[in-house]
Amino acid sequence: MNVPCFRVAPADRVAGAIAVPGDKSISHRALMFGALAEGRTHVTGFLEGEDCLATMRVVGHLGAKVERPGPGEVVVHGVGLHGLRAPGATLDMGNAGTAMRLFMGLLSAQPFDSELVGDASLMRRPMERVARPLREMGARIATRDGRPPVRIQGGACLRGIHYEMPVASAQVKSAVLLAGLYADGHTTVVEPAVTRDHTERMLRSFGVDVQARDGVVTVAQPVAMRGTDIRVPGDISSAAFFLVAACLGAREPFTIRDVGVNPTRTGILEMLALMGADLRLINHRTWGTEPVADIEVRPCALRGITVPERLVPLAIDEFPAFFVAAACAEGETVVTGAGELRVKESDRIAAMARGFEVLGVEHEVLPDGMRIRGGRPLDGGTIDSRGDHRIAMAFAVASLRATAPIEILDVANVATSFPGFAELAQGAGVAVLPTTRDLVTEPATRPECGFPAEPQHRHLF
Ligand code: S3P
Repeated sequence: MNVPCFRVAPADRVAGAIAVPGDKSISHRALMFGALAEGRTHVTGFLEGEDCLATMRVVGHLGAKVERPGPGEVVVHGVGLHGLRAPGATLDMGNAGTAMRLFMGLLSAQPFDSELVGDASLMRRPMERVARPLREMGARIATRDGRPPVRIQGGACLRGIHYEMPVASAQVKSAVLLAGLYADGHTTVVEPAVTRDHTERMLRSFGVDVQARDGVVTVAQPVAMRGTDIRVPGDISSAAFFLVAACLGAREPFTIRDVGVNPTRTGILEMLALMGADLRLINHRTWGTEPVADIEVRPCALRGITVPERLVPLAIDEFPAFFVAAACAEGETVVTGAGELRVKESDRIAAMARGFEVLGVEHEVLPDGMRIRGGRPLDGGTIDSRGDHRIAMAFAVASLRATAPIEILDVANVATSFPGFAELAQGAGVAVLPTTRDLVTEPATRPECGFPAEPQHRHLF
């Protein structure tokens, strides 16, 4: 079987100014909320990545008409809160955890049955964290050993709950809030630590009254949602690869334009700044309800840090890129309180550790993080991303400190969040060459990647 791979040659100069594709979290929500609204929702800067395209197909199966008049432009003709129709087939969420979990909330409140599945990675991810509070609201929802397929029986009458989340997860919060749009009374979610608040912000722009203060978020059934215009900022999670690349290889200021800098997403900026990165946010604006800025990275030398645990949920998707920064920083970096990394598209602690073994990076795996001793040149070698987009892109950036080429296997899923990554990286000076490799005639050692049990959490508020 031919699998897409990257061959990345060592390089040492990152230069220019780029813009990254639209934010994945915001793009998913724009489609879903647009479908529930009355009238037309016009989205620009939409992320045309596989994850959001899966959500687009699902929204279509549920009866909302979606048009794509131009690149990054989407028009959703909403059917209203009570206008969705039975899909007539199993709903395939592909690789997208956000799609599956948010749709679980939404579909729990519909009069029809639905079944949700995904690709091999998604079928291994924990779904009880969402199913449990939804059941408490009255939803009839079943998982298989806590994982997909998720089967939802329609016609349930939901009631509002007061839910203290045991895990800091914006996906769980959003699923409960979406179910809350259909529940009797108020639905309140209490977060153990701040997580991304795109749902709260965007629901307001659709006319929903959302109260949010000190980690407590409340919604009630709205009379209706109104279609709106949404301009999606660049995804800071995609920008993270270039922030790290520029820290490692910029000899002059490197700029990433139009990046979403919602304070619930900027943990990576704080973490890199603590390491000594010279980052400047300029040209601050607001697009709808989301803050946006250009980020300028100036030449700097990174040093190891102990990451404050409060920053972990604010940078949860950026750890693969951050671990590479740590591997290149002088001294020791310690990450703890990040057990959630074990249940992302792959077990990202294990995946980064496997890559570090190949590249000769000194590290110690912790149950909820990693200790990394950085600063030495990295070796080259072959790393299997096992279909995790962010693992693949992180190791491409590692080439900036490698003494020999790095080959990264199984990179097709880079297109789930960052279509055009290889081309953009090449333009900026990272020598990524997309290629393929036949893994049947040359079977790499690829034991099945399992997920551990759900991580334990500490409360940060
Ligand atoms: C997301 C929330 C995060 C993040 C995911 C997108 C969202 O997951 O990892 O990529 O759009 O709400 P958790 O909330 O489960 O940590």
